[in-house]
Amino acid sequence: MVEAGRHVVVIGGTKGLGYEVARASVARGARVTITGRDEAAAKERAQDLGDLAVGAACELTDWDSIGRLFAGVDVVDHLVLTALDRDFNTIADFRPDDCARTSLMKTVGYATAVHEALPKFSDDASVVMFSGLSMWRPVPGSTTISMANSGIIGLVNSLAVEVPPVRVNAITPGVVAGTAAVDEADEVRRDWFEAMRRRTPAKRLPTTEDIVASVMLLLDCPGINGANLVVDAGMHLV
Ligand SMILES: NC(=O)c1ccc[n+]([C@@H]2O[C@H](COP(=O)([O-])OP(=O)(O)OC[C@H]3O[C@@H](n4cnc5c(N)ncnc54)[C@H](OP(=O)(O)O)[C@@H]3O)[C@@H](O)[C@H]2O)c1
Repeated sequence: MVEAGRHVVVIGGTKGLGYEVARASVARGARVTITGRDEAAAKERAQDLGDLAVGAACELTDWDSIGRLFAGVDVVDHLVLTALDRDFNTIADFRPDDCARTSLMKTVGYATAVHEALPKFSDDASVVMFSGLSMWRPVPGSTTISMANSGIIGLVNSLAVEVPPVRVNAITPGVVAGTAAVDEADEVRRDWFEAMRRRTPAKRLPTTEDIVASVMLLLDCPGINGANLVVDAGMHLV
């Protein structure tokens, strides 16, 4: 349960959805550690969240950096993995190095974070990993991220069996209104997102608030384990 006295670590918590999960956790009275690739920037972002938040560096393609993060943490009640180093790639103009960097951080990096957190998890700890609807509904340029997001689901299935009593779940957001990735997208992707919104049953995209509420449910509810919660306003059906 995310509440006073508990510690929430958000890897990729300096921006976007991760930052909003951190903000909601602090609002419930929990301690929060947010991470980004740059230590000074992470500390500055944490200051904006108040006294319950601290900032730290974590680069998910650097195993030592992940180890240092968890060596400096006392206990982990909740671990949220939202980090993404976006790669817009297509098979026609494929850049394998860019694909490898993003794939590495979003699969091996996420797995390594759980490995390093193992000695610090409390008995009723839980983990939430971010996947994304692009694994089923590709968007122009999503070749890398479609692949990496699918990997998250396999990883969650495996970890939920490997690390009990710690619970491990995935969240699969659709295109999320209010995030920089959507609001600041280029014209091609903006048109694509708008077409997806129009196809969606209620003609609305999920919001940042919808995603935060869903992450809190996954973190809190002892009966949910090994699940993939799709929060896309029904987009995957149409
Ligand atoms: N936005 C959407 O509509 C949407 C839709 C579906 C799924 N998702 C998923 O939701 C998650 C969050 O998305 P978002 O749009 O909120 O992301 P975002 O605003 O771009 O934030 C990304 C975070 O990841 C960190 N990061 C980037 N590269 C990293 C690396 N190599 N190692 C460690 N940390 C790294 C960034 O930290 P610094 O920049 O400070 O280093 C930042 O805190 C992602 O996993 C994404 O796949 C988002």
